[in-house]
Amino acid sequence: MYIHETIAGLRAARRGAGRVALVPTMGNLHAGHIALMTQARDHADQVVATIFVNRLQFRPGEDFEKYPRTFEEDCAKLEAAGVDHLFAPDEAQMYPQPQTYHVEPPPEQAGVLDGEFRPGHFRGVATVVMKLFQIAQPDVALFGKKDYQQLMVIRNMAREFNLPIEILGGETVRAADGLALSSRNGYLSATERAEAPRLYRVLTELAAEVRKGGGNYPELEAKAMNILSLNGWAPDYVALRKKLDLQCPSAHDSGLVVLAAARLGSTRLIDNLEV
Ligand code: PAJ
Repeated sequence: MYIHETIAGLRAARRGAGRVALVPTMGNLHAGHIALMTQARDHADQVVATIFVNRLQFRPGEDFEKYPRTFEEDCAKLEAAGVDHLFAPDEAQMYPQPQTYHVEPPPEQAGVLDGEFRPGHFRGVATVVMKLFQIAQPDVALFGKKDYQQLMVIRNMAREFNLPIEILGGETVRAADGLALSSRNGYLSATERAEAPRLYRVLTELAAEVRKGGGNYPELEAKAMNILSLNGWAPDYVALRKKLDLQCPSAHDSGLVVLAAARLGSTRLIDNLEV
């Protein structure tokens, strides 16, 4: 695997590389990231992974400073997964001067759900992903459904800016007990880690109720939030939405997804499940 720290280095490797698949990450890689690398292989001649902890998408007081940085281990995992190129720039490379132009996703998409609780987050994500797209010029790019709203924002950005890049979603990879793999799981204490799979259980139960039909959506959402609260969580939201645009469904809409974010101790976890 070639490791590129500079844009010029990656661009030089890009020339004549055939069909390229890009998998952007912030590192501290787990099996969810690696599944995207493997999926990428099926769609391209060369797989390019990126590792960059993007300051722009963190709010003051969030975990930018303490975000786990495990470069050596990450490289070994990417190498084992058969990734061809790793782009691992430092901040001076990505932001040689403060970023003054931004990609601003519309508030209906980026101001709801996670965007409501993390204002500016999706603007930071869209901006860095746009930069990574310009730098790597991939034919296809892969993102996990674990970050469902992020995938939707990037899909719409690619479409509205006519980017010649196919955006693909990867299924959420979970631990045996159902907890969605996440770099942030490493923040959990042993007791919190034992409690954490409840988030997925609550989503599974809610999805089952919706499939049965006849349920009142706001009541089901409130019940799920209540179960989390009673078990020591501080839920931000549990919300049933339409898969396509994450807007609120009416009674006869199909194609739904249930999304949740909740804090357990000081760790904020998100998850979702297509109904
Ligand atoms: P990061 O959290 O490192 O995630 C990188 C990619 O892995 C994202 O597309 C994410 O959805 C996917 N992913 C994370 N956990 C997963 C799981 N359990 N199963 C499947 N896929 C999973 O998301 C980001 O980084 C950043 O916002 C980024 C897009 C790199 C922009 O900075």
